[in-house]
Parts: sequence; structure tokens; C-alpha cells
Amino acid sequence: MRDAEPQPVRLADYRPPDWLVDTVDLDISLHPSATRVVARLALRRNPEGEAGAPVVLDGDGLVLVRLALDGKPAAGGAFDASPDRLTLTPSADRFLLEVETLLDPTANTQLMGLYRTGGTYCTQCEPEGFRRITYFPDRSDVLAVYTTRIEADRDAAPVLLGNGNLLRNGPIAGTGRHYAVWHDPWPKPSYLFALVGGRLAKVPGHFVTASGRPVDLGIYVEEGKQDRAGYAMDALRRSMRWDETAFGREYDLDVFNIVAVSDFNMGAMENKGLNVFNDKYVLASPETATDADYANIEAIIAHEYFHNWTGNRITCRDWFQLCLKEGLTVFRDQEFSADQRSRPVKRIADVRLLKAQQFVEDAGPLAHPVRPEMYREINNFYTATVYEKGAEVVRMLKALLGEAGFRAGMDLYFARHDGDAATIEDFLACFAEATGRDLAHFALWYAQSGTPRLDVAGSYDEAAGTYRLDVVQSTPPTPGQPTKAPLLIPLALGLVGPNGHDLPLVLADGTPVEGVLEVTQEKQSFVFTGVGTRPVASLNRGFSASVNLVTDLSTDDLVFLAAHDRDPFNRFDAIQALAVQLLKRGAAEGTLPPHAALLDAARRLLEDGALDPAFKAQALALPGENEIAREIGTQVDPDAVHAARRALRRALAQALTDGFAATYAAMDTPGPYRPDAASAGRRALRTLSLDYLTVPGTPDALQRALARYRAADNMTDRFGTLAVLAQHDSPERREALDDFYVRFEKDPLVIDKWLSLQAQIPEAGTLDRVRALMLLPVFSMSNPNRVRALVGALATGNPTQFNRPDGAGYDFLVDVVLTLDAKNPQLASRLLSAFKTWRQLEPKRAALAERALRKVADAPGLSDDVADIALRALG
Ligand code: ARG
Ligand code: ZN
Repeated sequence: MRDAEPQPVRLADYRPPDWLVDTVDLDISLHPSATRVVARLALRRNPEGEAGAPVVLDGDGLVLVRLALDGKPAAGGAFDASPDRLTLTPSADRFLLEVETLLDPTANTQLMGLYRTGGTYCTQCEPEGFRRITYFPDRSDVLAVYTTRIEADRDAAPVLLGNGNLLRNGPIAGTGRHYAVWHDPWPKPSYLFALVGGRLAKVPGHFVTASGRPVDLGIYVEEGKQDRAGYAMDALRRSMRWDETAFGREYDLDVFNIVAVSDFNMGAMENKGLNVFNDKYVLASPETATDADYANIEAIIAHEYFHNWTGNRITCRDWFQLCLKEGLTVFRDQEFSADQRSRPVKRIADVRLLKAQQFVEDAGPLAHPVRPEMYREINNFYTATVYEKGAEVVRMLKALLGEAGFRAGMDLYFARHDGDAATIEDFLACFAEATGRDLAHFALWYAQSGTPRLDVAGSYDEAAGTYRLDVVQSTPPTPGQPTKAPLLIPLALGLVGPNGHDLPLVLADGTPVEGVLEVTQEKQSFVFTGVGTRPVASLNRGFSASVNLVTDLSTDDLVFLAAHDRDPFNRFDAIQALAVQLLKRGAAEGTLPPHAALLDAARRLLEDGALDPAFKAQALALPGENEIAREIGTQVDPDAVHAARRALRRALAQALTDGFAATYAAMDTPGPYRPDAASAGRRALRTLSLDYLTVPGTPDALQRALARYRAADNMTDRFGTLAVLAQHDSPERREALDDFYVRFEKDPLVIDKWLSLQAQIPEAGTLDRVRALMLLPVFSMSNPNRVRALVGALATGNPTQFNRPDGAGYDFLVDVVLTLDAKNPQLASRLLSAFKTWRQLEPKRAALAERALRKVADAPGLSDDVADIALRALG
């Protein structure tokens, strides 16, 4: 809780720690309300710190029981302790500090530090949770070797897990308790500490690393859920192998454990040797998980595993460098999924997510650089910008340096910085050195916020046989950055000839272009020679640069690219660009402009037998309402956006009825469910076809959808058909929703889907429905997954109903945020960040949103987390 505005922390103020910790010995005796923690820290003055500085250790709500220096109880006056800080002025430059604290894990509803979830003890320490367990220099540049003894009641917590390798364990005679001692030989920052104690079932696995080290794998789940951990185990083993082949990185301990818990603020956490996961990203069975769930599990298992090198062996010097581990690790997990599945389809899905989340963030009041320079609450910087744009920056680096140069830079980074707490400068220096390239200009991507806009105009000179591209780049102002400098933008492109083949790219001075142009200035022209016929420019292929591309391509050009570009991403992008043009005009004019070209392009894609079904499903799904709103940019009326999208859906459904019917029949996937990408693609295209076929809402169409719902033998089809029905206020919808509830009432992760779907229905009754759903016993305000599924889905996945013209959606969210804030500030501030788009709304809604945000900002006793979001959103 704060009494004043949260204080800013600045990158420019970074100083090395005054004291270091060589070893940490923890003795933790677990108890539901009185857990005892004895910490023995071997402290040593840092020669690089400030001479004579006292020892200042972080705490957060700690209860100090006892304190000893070099084995002698500390007398009052020798130290100064408060719940949030411990200050000592020792005479020696090296000493052993012993501190005992007393914790109440059951009362910990913030889910930060040591807490309980379904009876299990678990921890979350990133970024600043370790200080809720014991006093410590809780910053990521203090690396220590940890030994952890955990003790607990044997019946309540038969499983005791820690970081590193198990040294010994056994019963404590005559007490009903037992213990385990874990030792992690790799020095690590406190945010990677973890322990787990509970009644959990182990799903075992095994892996032998490339150099022959055997590793015991374990996935720990709630008793009875073992049969849902198989896919996660498989994904883990594939991730371990992939990191060896793709990056030369081997695992470095004898055990690797994953624990699935049901109360977790984020997706998962990469604690050394002991990953803790939101169970939503571990548990899957054909009956309970969709294809999207399987893909997410694969990606997040890989992500946390890959952190072992990018995050753990090499960690971050300070939290400003968060993207050093997160952006890079997202890039690595994206590459892994691309290799395991379809590369183009993965790229399309990633860019869709980037635009839906990061571009939106970048265009509003919460915009910040990939590496921020100031924060008031670091928990609010686990954002799409740090993660997703952070990954795009790494991808752009690779586009500039090429495969071999990129790998050489990564190899140097691992070799040079293993064991370090590093910075973005350290990272970039490795690539500069390995390739001999100056990356000073490129580095601006980390510091400058906002999405650059790239205007590209093409002109063909038939007589000269030249094609000229005029490129103008600009980045709109963002909070704290009124003016912007030009960036180094890797623009992948092709000039497509009339027969659909790429023409050779040769600049006027004779230099050949290997598919990527480097745009470096505000205004630049590129002239290609030897161009015999007028080509169509295919720009930013594969989304090589994270920019808003504005081209002068005609409708005919886009139709041509959608059919012929050899870059699958740009085939997708061409048809999406056609749709965006229509939707923007449709929303502005209240009626859909002529759209025969889009229908024609869509028909061709649908009927192209050579195309991957998963690709077609992506290409034929219209841009979402949030995405259209961002494209419009200002004065957005969500109802007009919704109406335009609805009209275009109707037009597509009408024009392509036969095609969708044929596709629907052809995409039947008989046989038992398999989660692989090819089968998932067929299911996706089949459900999309059903969705279009159901658009007319006739009794026949609804009955067909309901029949498919009933016949489904896996969650992908069952939930897919339920989502189709959810769009139509009808008896069929009611029947299917009721049936789904009865079937899965006892399965919280599946109920989340049901909650989330209803929260996203674009009808005036939805807000009342959400209020009613909150009263059901399956809902709980203390479980983050439930809250996000219901309240989060309304706030971020239902633009018309969150932005109701009467402001009731905003008032509702504010009530939930204020109620939650006392309990779980991180969850509350995440929900509140749904207001990040308020400034793009038309004036009436914007005024209501502003009033709602003010109410939050003015509420007494706000957490730093919520206060920070409210003030920045208003800022
Ligand atoms: N490092 C984790 C991941 O991305 C995220 C943990 C963030 N947790 C938090 N409470 N902010 O894999
Ligand atoms: Zn991560």
C-alpha cells in the first residue's frame, strides 16, 4: 500500500551493489500460517560499491524474529529493522548474517513470495518476491549459490522441491515431519529462487543431453491429473533437444522439475531447475484442451526451458534489461514452434498477436521503450512491448546480420557472458564484434518507443527499365518522447513480375540486394534497374520490420499479391490489407463500400488446393475489432467498427457459401484426435467454414452447428462449435451453453473457456450476464485464471460491451479493480490496463473512460501497481 505516489526508479541511477552475497543457506520450515525461515547469508563488501556503505537489505512486510552476526545475536542499536528494510553497519568487510523471519503463506493473496495454492506451498519471486521471504539485496545483479533445506508435515506435503539437485531427504523422527535439502551449484539472482511443498503426483520423464548427461524430468500435478501432463513432457523433451541443435545449449543439472499450480499471476516462471507453471499451460487432454491450448503449452514449456540459458545462466543486470531475457527468449520460443509446426502460419499468428497487443500498447498512454528508462512499479513492465516487440527487435537483428552472423553473435554472447548479469549493450556488442558491424544505430530500437510508420510509394519507368521506391519513415510521439529519430529498418522485399516470379533486385549502382533493404533515413529512395515489366512490390515480407506499413498498392495489386506472392506472410497480409481498407471505410461511412475484389481474392484462396488449411484459416479470418480500431486510430466508435465487420462477414458468407460448404465437408478429420499442426489446421479451417455457414442464423444453420457441437469428440471441435453458436442469440445457443456447463462444471480450466466466451458476446445483455456469472460457485475472485477469463475477456475481448455508450462497462471494471486491489494488486493492475486504448475513442466514450480512471486514481489506499497504471493512463 502506498501513502504517496510511487517513487520512480531510473536506469541512469544504476549503481553496482555495495555488498555481495556468496552463499545463501536457507532453512525453511513450512507451516500454513507460521512458516519459519532461517537465512544464512555470506556477505562481502563489493570493491566496486560505495566505500563504507552500510548493508541495506530489502524486505516486504517481513516479521523479524531474530538476527545474528557471525554467530552472535545482534544487540539492538547494531541494526535497524522495519518490515520493508534491514540496515546494518558491520565493522568487517565480510561476515555471516543469520536472520529468522516468520511468514503466513495462507494470508498471502498477492501470490508473490511464499503462498499457498490449493493446499500446496509455492513461491513466485520474480521480480521482487524474495524480499517477502527474507531480507536480501533483492536485485538481479547479486548472484549467490543457494542451499535450501525444506521441512514440512509429511502428510500435508509429501513432495518437497527446490532449485538445483537433491542432496538428501528423510523423516524427522517422532514429529510426523520430513525434510529435503536442495543445492543449486549455479550462482543465481534471488528472483530465480523457488520451493514447492505439497501433495502432488509426479509424471516422470528422462532425457540424455548431447554430451551424455542423464537428466531426471518431473512434471508435478494435482493428484488425478497425471494423464493430462503427457503433452507437456513431450514438449519439454523436444525443447531440450532443439536448444542443443539450434543454439548449442545443453541442460546443466541432474534434474529438471515443472510444477503446475492453479493460482498464478502470470503464465509461468523459469526458476532454476524448478519451473512453476500456471496449470493452464501444462494440463491438456483431447477432451479438455483445444488446439490453441496445445500450441500454447508447447510454446510456454519451451519458453521457460530456454530461459535456462537466456535468463538464468546469463541474467539481467537490472530490471530495465528485462527484454534481454524476455525478448530474446520469446524469439527463441517462436523459432522453436516454427520448426515444430508450420513456419509461415506461426509467423502469421505471432504478428497477429503483436499487432493486437503491442501495436495497441505502443499507440496509447502506456507506450514505453523495449528497454524502459524509468519505472514506478516493475510488475507493470511485463508487457507486450518488452516481450513481443523485444522478440521482434532480435528478429530484425537476425534479418540484418543473416543466419550465420546471428549465430556467431549468439555463440559469443553465451561464451562471454555465462555467469554474468548483463545488459543490452553487452548483448549488442557481441553481435557487433562477431560480424564487424556497427550496431549503434540499430540500438535505437531499444530506446525509442512507438511503432514507426513506413510510407512506401513505387513508380515504374518503362523507358528506363527502372523501378523506384520512395520511402519515408516517421514515428509518432509517445509519452516522454515528443520527437523521434529515424531507425535502422530491415525491409525485406521482392518485386513480383506478372507471372508471379520475383525479379532480380539490383540497385542503380549495380549492387545486388539479397532480399533485405536497409532503411536508415527519414526519406530515402531506392532505384532498381533491369526491370523489364511493371512489377508489384511485395514489401516487408515475413513482417521483417515491426512497422506500420503504408503503401500505394492498388486493390488490383493486393489481389495479385494475395494470389501470387511467393512470401506466404504477404499473401496473408495482402488480403488482410484489403479487408482493413473496407472496414475502415465501412465504419466511417456506415455502409460497406464495393468489395468484389476482396470476395474474389478470398474465393481464390479458399479454392487453392495447394494451400495449407491452417494458412487459409488465418487468411480468411477478418481482422479483429481491436485491430480495426487501432487502424482507424482516432475518434473510434466501437459500435460502428462492429457493424462494419459484421457486414463484411455477411458479404463473405453470402458470396462463398458453396466454397465454405465444400471446405467444411472436405476438412472432416476422422480418427482419434491428434494435436499436431496439420490436423489442427484442418480443424481450424473446418470451424471457420462452419462459422461463415452459420452467419445467416437460420434454424437450419443453427441446428447444423448444434449437431456438430453434440457430435464433437474433442475440445477443439466442441468449443469451436460453441463459439460459433455464441454469436447467435437463439435456443440452440442456450442449449449448447447449458450442456457445456453441465459437462465441465468440475473442471475449472474448461469452465474458464465457457466464462470467457460469454463475456465476449457482443450483445447489450452481456454485462448483466457477466455479473450473474460472477455469482456462480465456479467463479472466484481469488483465482487469477477465473478473473481473467471472465472480467479480463469482457474488458479486452469485447469492445462494444466494455465501451458501452452509457459507461457501465467502465464502471464495472473499476469496481472489480478496486475490490481486487487490496487482495492481488498485480491482477488488478493488469485488468486496469484495458483502459490503454481510451484516448482513441470518440469524445463521449473517452470522457466516460477518463472519469472512470479518475475514480481509480482518487481512491484511497491504492497499491503502487494500480496507481501507476491509473496515473500513466491519464497522464
Ligand atoms: N519470467 C516469467 C516469464 O516470462 C514471467 C514472470 C513474471 N512474473 C511477475 N509476477 N511479474 O517466463
Ligand atoms: Zn520469460
